[in-house]
Amino acid sequence: MAPPLVAGGGLLLAAFLAFSLAASSANAAVSYDHRSLVINGRRRILISGSIHYPRSTPEMWPGLIQKAKDGGLDVIQTYVFWNGHEPVKGQYYFSDRYDLVRFVKLAKQAGLYVHLRIGPYVCAEWNFGGFPVWLKYVPGISFRTDNGPFKAEMQRFVEKIVSMMKSERLFEWQGGPIIMTQVENEFGPMESVGGSGAKPYANWAAKMAVATNTGVPWVMCKQEDAPDTVINTCNGFYCDYFTPNKKNKPTMWTEAWTGWFTSFGGAVPHRPVEDMAFAVARFIQKGGSFVNYYMYHGGTNFGRTAGGPFIATSYDYDAPIDEYGLLRQPKWGHLRDLHKAIKQAEPVLVSGDPTVQSLGNYEKAYVFKSKNGACAAAFLSNYHMNAAVKVRFNGRHYDLPAWSISILPDCKTAVFNTATVKEPTLLPKMHLVVRFAWQSYSEDTNSLDGSAFTKNGLVEQLSMTWDKSDYLWYTTYVNIGANELSKNGQWPQLTIYSAGHSMQVFVNGKSYGSVYGGYNNPKLTYDGHVKMWQGSNKISILSSAVGLPNDGNHFERWNVGVLGPVTVSGLNSGKRDLSHQKWTYQVGLKGESLGLHTVTGSSSVEWGGPGNRQPLTWHKALFTAPAGSDPVALDMGSMGKGQMWVNGHHVGRYWSYKAPSGGCGRCSYAGTYRQDKCRSNCGQLSQRWYHVPRSWLKPGGNLLVVLEEYGGDLAGVAMATRRTT
Ligand code: GAL
Repeated sequence: MAPPLVAGGGLLLAAFLAFSLAASSANAAVSYDHRSLVINGRRRILISGSIHYPRSTPEMWPGLIQKAKDGGLDVIQTYVFWNGHEPVKGQYYFSDRYDLVRFVKLAKQAGLYVHLRIGPYVCAEWNFGGFPVWLKYVPGISFRTDNGPFKAEMQRFVEKIVSMMKSERLFEWQGGPIIMTQVENEFGPMESVGGSGAKPYANWAAKMAVATNTGVPWVMCKQEDAPDTVINTCNGFYCDYFTPNKKNKPTMWTEAWTGWFTSFGGAVPHRPVEDMAFAVARFIQKGGSFVNYYMYHGGTNFGRTAGGPFIATSYDYDAPIDEYGLLRQPKWGHLRDLHKAIKQAEPVLVSGDPTVQSLGNYEKAYVFKSKNGACAAAFLSNYHMNAAVKVRFNGRHYDLPAWSISILPDCKTAVFNTATVKEPTLLPKMHLVVRFAWQSYSEDTNSLDGSAFTKNGLVEQLSMTWDKSDYLWYTTYVNIGANELSKNGQWPQLTIYSAGHSMQVFVNGKSYGSVYGGYNNPKLTYDGHVKMWQGSNKISILSSAVGLPNDGNHFERWNVGVLGPVTVSGLNSGKRDLSHQKWTYQVGLKGESLGLHTVTGSSSVEWGGPGNRQPLTWHKALFTAPAGSDPVALDMGSMGKGQMWVNGHHVGRYWSYKAPSGGCGRCSYAGTYRQDKCRSNCGQLSQRWYHVPRSWLKPGGNLLVVLEEYGGDLAGVAMATRRTT
């Protein structure tokens, strides 16, 4: 490690020199200095975009990467998703959507670089922040702190990925595309809440990462105290306020948020491209040299990969390439034009720092000079949110719309203005093409199978399921004596407290409805009068998880499931607490263990006529794929909550959960933050359409299986293609 951070010129200078020598050492193909990354001796302004490989299919990757290249990107950034790669401890998976090597090689083939964020904590609205659930049950473990078992597992995975990349010759010095790596993710803010183990852990993580000798720089985003030689970087809607913690580190923006994620029950966030372009130009004009769009293609949280709880299946993110892989216009095109303008000035931009001239109260010029001191490139900015202005610069007049920046790559011609969008708007639409003929099979909500087991008291859900299923059955009995039921006919009152996330209640096989939490509070309470009789009554609760948390201090310790108390009141004998008596548990649904979602498994039960609205019903239909090659989506807006599969591929969770009716507003582009009213779908479903990748379909005989938890209207389910005409 380099010397610790010290104030005081002499030591700093010594540290700086020591570092410069190390960074520019003979075989380092990628190094850095104060101004930028240096690739094979050349400083670069790099435009990057996040595309997370498991959020699309390998068949989609070449097209997405090409669109990124055509949009003016130099780099593809992705996290590495540990729980996808090691679902069972010691059993690795690197195929299909998790074929990381193939993804990195495709970027290389397209002539792009890769920024690999190994984490292995990734946040990313990804289930459990990327951690495998088994990790939680390693004895003595505590996540993301100075803890032996955690550090050992983390190091093992980081080293595994690094050595895999090395043996595939994927680092830049080996002729590969990887120019930069990341360890951890936004750990800085955790240091103030993480106790005494936090800082030592951050230092350990940096040191461990650097010791893997990737031969490319490491970054730690949002980590102000990132130890040398690791570069601290900025994440945010704007990053022009940011400076790295050492003079010799470049100013880099690892997450420029192009929109935001959607949660079930939340409105759909948007970020206008004018504001996005303005933020990027602001960053570059102040000396930033690396910008990564998070996300450039957001994609889909297929299967049960969505984090949360309550993260939606769509991870569209309002990104320049939409969930389906189509260009989002004018966003994609306007940013492409921005990148062209920046690239025209690239050599001048990286040759030194800008000087700033005031052109008025809200107006400034950032000037990049050539060696002889002449103006070589300039950015003219107007920070006023509403007023357009005319400014005078170098003897010429320029019109600057409100909240905008013009780029003058030759110091004279304004080739691009961030608020002047030339790219036409294109609005893709869904075209309904397939309706389905259904068969249905309802689960028995009053009996468990042979895998059921009994315990004293209520147990935490994840500790039983290990997340192999969203579902855990909690069943118990209440014995009601001869004179215990109220004489006035009032049924007993059942009250159930759950830590989350959603729950259905059955008494003696009859459904008494469902309750669920939400993104801001996953907890829930059932409170209702239920019919009970003298003798034994069976209470069955189906608790379901909707994505494990991916963010927050020690999120791995947050509970799921019915933790109680569970009480029955309104009996003549008073209130009874059932929390500590015997409960019988079953992980998952019967249909899941029979594999009803697969072609072979679906033949293991008798399917009946369609249209069954009972809770916990499986529905299946055969269909012919929509003609052509346009992306395909399922309309699930008429259904309740559940999951769906196509030809055995797990499309994901669906949930017709509505966003609150208030909070959407006019999408003004000035000063857009996520708190802004720049949202859609208020009072409507957070998500109605679900992406079914084309490569999962064959021409005919496709099997669609839907598991509906609450009961919905099958007549509304349809398949559509998406296109702009
Ligand atoms: C960041 C985080 C990302 C993602 C993003 C929100 O703070 O680093 O992984 O979670 O927020 O989409």
